Amino acid sequence: WIAAGAAALAAYLIGSVSFAVIVSRIGAQDDVRNHGSGNAGMTNILRNYGKKMAALTAVGDFGKGVVAVALGRIIFLLLGVTAVDGGYIAGFFALLGHLFPLYFGFKGGKGVLTSLGVVLMLNWKVFLLLVVLLVPVVFIVKIVSLTVIIGYVLFPIFTVAVDHFTGRPFGFDLLFALLLSGLGAFMHRENIKRLLNGTEYRFGQDKNKQG
Ligand code: G3P
Repeated sequence: WIAAGAAALAAYLIGSVSFAVIVSRIGAQDDVRNHGSGNAGMTNILRNYGKKMAALTAVGDFGKGVVAVALGRIIFLLLGVTAVDGGYIAGFFALLGHLFPLYFGFKGGKGVLTSLGVVLMLNWKVFLLLVVLLVPVVFIVKIVSLTVIIGYVLFPIFTVAVDHFTGRPFGFDLLFALLLSGLGAFMHRENIKRLLNGTEYRFGQDKNKQG
């Protein structure tokens, strides 16, 4: 429990580093949460400040998922816990930090890139499948949130399939995938409403027309 608590706390503190807020503050003396969808994420940075700042945000938010899982594993090993993978708890708490960042008034992003960083570390084959499938999809549908929601549906399915074919027990992986997908879908509830009434932002659309 000490290892779990230490990994959770360290991961939460790492996850709380909201790169979208930092990038917009440093790069534009502004806060991205006052613009576009109000979300502290790469998509909203892209919408408001362009590709370079979006790329920086993506690397940071993805990277902190990777770093948190690695750190969780290191903490577990240092404290002599080898029976369980500390990456799961660290990954989950890094995501919570991203969604509700300690340093930025608990108003963060929706967690897509941080979740992807976590999945890369926990089950890289699932990560690869998701990326290979979703990259073309985002360019076809031209709506990031729709692509992401498709990803949340596919994530548990891919997890079971990959674990089945690689002979890895899928029970815990599936629970974790359902948790991440469920939380992710909940964070996208406003996007889902906009998708249903046809007002969701598409690439190339005037950003001022988006709510
Ligand atoms: O992960 C964020 C993306 O799926 C949607 O972002 O700014 O359109 O709400 P946004």
